[in-house]
Amino acid sequence: MRIAFLSDIHGNYTAFQSVLKDLEMQKIDQFICLGDTVTMGPQPVEVLKALRQLDCLYIKGNHDAAVLDPERSEQYEITHYLAPDLYWCQKQLTLDDRAFLDAFNPMLNLTLPNGVKILAFHGSPLSSTDIIQATTPPELLDKYFAGQNADIYIGGHSHIQMIRRYGEKLILNSGSIGNAFKFAYSPGNIPSLLPWAEYMIIDQIGDSVSIDARRVYFDTDELQRIIKETDLPGSAWWLRQYAK
Ligand SMILES: [Fe+2]
Repeated sequence: MRIAFLSDIHGNYTAFQSVLKDLEMQKIDQFICLGDTVTMGPQPVEVLKALRQLDCLYIKGNHDAAVLDPERSEQYEITHYLAPDLYWCQKQLTLDDRAFLDAFNPMLNLTLPNGVKILAFHGSPLSSTDIIQATTPPELLDKYFAGQNADIYIGGHSHIQMIRRYGEKLILNSGSIGNAFKFAYSPGNIPSLLPWAEYMIIDQIGDSVSIDARRVYFDTDELQRIIKETDLPGSAWWLRQYAK
């Protein structure tokens, strides 16, 4: 049983295409999208169209919720300078796209054929805005996972790929496909991006479970070219990321 976890595509269809190409060689049985499909990047519509082609289950990220309701972006902890990008993205989406996003799940429980239980979410099981990192104190993890009985917890949101042991549990972050951060986000610091897409595969064969934290390089020149042709409010930030 091979499950691919895709997260934080953020409208970066160039990065997503490179992942889709990589996935063609991976013999995946199930796709799980961990949220933040759109906003910030230049091609939200193309991303949603490609996602619909996959046999995929969806979790709603804070950006997926915020693009449906940009007036309340603070509630979803979207930094104020990203508000114009939210409105820009909302304008690109059809009513059908919005209904598609709105139907995403808060979280998902899965059980592998060997009985190993997985709980998938965006931020934490409590909220799409909680950030779980390698440095998150154990007491906070106890709070996030109270009452849960999964063996493996997997989310996105931090934009930092992670494999962390937590007692008998494993906490994973599949990383970000379209917005892989160089350093963990801290308030007041504008993030820098890495020139690759990240995603994760959980593979179960018999009694073994393995984790594949994948990195796929994509054509940043092509992304820059696409961004220059749009009126995306955040285009200057994107272009700075890949300046040579
Ligand atoms: Fe995100």
